[in-house]
Amino acid sequence: MRTPLIAGNWKMHKMLAEARELVAGIAKGIQNIEGVEVLICPPTQHLFPMAKAVAGTRIMLGAQNAHEEDQGAFTGEVSVPMLKETGCTHVIIGHSERRHLFDEGSVRLGKKVRAVVKAGLFVVYCVGETLEDREADRTHEVVERQLDEGIGTDVPADRLIVAYEPVWAIGTGKTATPQQAQEVHALVRAKLAAIYDQATADRTRILYGGSVKPGNAADLAAQPDIDGALVGGACLVADDFVAIMAAASSVASGAC
Ligand code: PGA
Repeated sequence: MRTPLIAGNWKMHKMLAEARELVAGIAKGIQNIEGVEVLICPPTQHLFPMAKAVAGTRIMLGAQNAHEEDQGAFTGEVSVPMLKETGCTHVIIGHSERRHLFDEGSVRLGKKVRAVVKAGLFVVYCVGETLEDREADRTHEVVERQLDEGIGTDVPADRLIVAYEPVWAIGTGKTATPQQAQEVHALVRAKLAAIYDQATADRTRILYGGSVKPGNAADLAAQPDIDGALVGGACLVADDFVAIMAAASSVASGAC
């Protein structure tokens, strides 16, 4: 049984007062929602105050990126131990914006994944194909390669969460159909079984990301290999984020 995880990637949004308001709205909204884990990933600058804001709630705190070294002359970067000190329990690694806008390549991402798990935190490792890849029928090849590059048996699976985010669906309003998403999620699970073993693959959560909204969350959550969502735009509005959680919760409890 995999508990669904609904994660909000705030990206570079929200001033501090707005961030506090958003967390208060989420905390209030989730009071009656059960069976779903909730994670928010605010900008690094807000992590300390957000740790205070989520204290006493079941909202977990994550970061959007980390440097692979613990310390050193890396201007502008933040290390995993520093993130851990804020109260973070999760770090997103390999988000498509990091891969494509900041040129983060496979070697670096593999090191970052290992830095996160070395510190005992959970890594949310993102994979996903571009539109060009999909149109050239390279989706499986790309996703399998990204998994091979980022993870391996030296990455403890009990610290690993995979997020499948087709690049063409991120921030575009174009969601993968539940069938398209399920097909790649099944592939990811098969790949996890090949890397680890079937039992481990069956325990590992695979989130879908890319224009998840209250209106499509239930259909996505109903797919057998979709174990939650990594939400961008819709996580910036408390009611929408809570509605996505409510949808995942009802699917998990068999109510729809
Ligand atoms: P989106 O972003 O929900 O705005 O498409 C998802 C993500 O980038 O994780």
